[in-house]
Amino acid sequence: MAAREKPISDEERAFWADIRRQFYLEDGVTFLQGGSVGPSAKPVIEQVIDWLRQVEANPLYNQREQVMGSRVEAAREKAAHFTGASAKNVALVLNTTMGMNVPARGLPLQPGGEVLMSDQEYPSVQRMWEHMARTQHVLVRKVPLPTPPDSPREIVDAFAAHITPRTQVMVFSHVYCTTGLVAPVRELTALAHDRGAVAVVDGAHAVGMVPVDIEAWGCDFYASSTHKWLLAPKGTGIVYVADPYLSSLPAPILGYNTAPFSHARRFDVTGTHDTTHFAGLGAAIDYQQDIGWEDRIRPYCLGLARYLRELVEEEIEGARMTVPPGSEMSGFLTSFTIDGCSLHRIVQIMWEEYRIQIAATRAGDLPVFRISTHFYDSYEDIDRFIDALKTVLATRRDEVFEDR
Ligand SMILES: Cc1ncc(COP(=O)(O)O)c(C=O)c1O
Repeated sequence: MAAREKPISDEERAFWADIRRQFYLEDGVTFLQGGSVGPSAKPVIEQVIDWLRQVEANPLYNQREQVMGSRVEAAREKAAHFTGASAKNVALVLNTTMGMNVPARGLPLQPGGEVLMSDQEYPSVQRMWEHMARTQHVLVRKVPLPTPPDSPREIVDAFAAHITPRTQVMVFSHVYCTTGLVAPVRELTALAHDRGAVAVVDGAHAVGMVPVDIEAWGCDFYASSTHKWLLAPKGTGIVYVADPYLSSLPAPILGYNTAPFSHARRFDVTGTHDTTHFAGLGAAIDYQQDIGWEDRIRPYCLGLARYLRELVEEEIEGARMTVPPGSEMSGFLTSFTIDGCSLHRIVQIMWEEYRIQIAATRAGDLPVFRISTHFYDSYEDIDRFIDALKTVLATRRDEVFEDR
């Protein structure tokens, strides 16, 4: 295989190789699947283990008012700062699923109204709104998402074409888990508000991948899984709740949080639970900020994604990109399809025979590969994936092409 030129200096390559050693990822494994769940770095996990030891020495340290309480609040502050929000509006939840339940279960819908979302929202998010709509006699309308769109305007126009005076809630993703499309949150939020609808944003993939500025964009609700691109401990997420909903919206899990109280803590994981992982969210943010999220991590990851996309286009016969080009409408997720090919079989072969972890999903009706490139990955990891894919496509045609 001819050596491919890499847009990276030896010094930078050594820097990122050193960072990769700060993860527990096994040698020989190429992990291009951080979009599902990311690996936490050793310093983050070691910090959490240290806190767990303290808590096990005196279990009361776990409780809110005790030793861990201030660390959890520091994590809330850091998560808020990282996403352009006020700490009092940020609840600490287990994941995006729980975060999206805050508006889904809390917002009262009027019978005869509509909830608008795209046809590429995360399936469990579609289901939760469909369920709530059914029980309140509300219609869910789905916008076919252009794949890929030519401009952010095309996405806004697609939603605008389906919004009606009956639309009460507009649900959309910041980064689409299907293709990696980065949606224009500010413009979509403005569209919802112009038509009198509440803007609910699924930012599961966004935090740690693209800049997030929730309050500047005016979102009403914004949920994210910080165990994805932020590489925080598993079972940590956030949901932003805007001021009008803070005090009185019923939380999905009720307990002490029934009284009106103007703090998103009302929507936190409730009852007794492990607090070390939430404090670990703060450690995960510190870890990426110490490396330099904006100045080092994001440019490096965008470089990896660009390199991957170029190789797919140049070297993979029959591949069709489904992620838009450029950093305005895409980030660290790359998606493409190969007509007639069993992508799931390839995902299996990649892992079992090459130790390369990738994903296959669907964008609407279209099966697509979804490749996540994060800063623990290298340019050589991408070469390995491309070379393996070329070999499988060339030598296993009977197995991977469905119509042969
Ligand atoms: C767009 C999107 N929303 C929501 C979720 C649910 O995330 P979690 O399982 O962390 O709740 C995912 C998970 O992959 C996702 O991709």
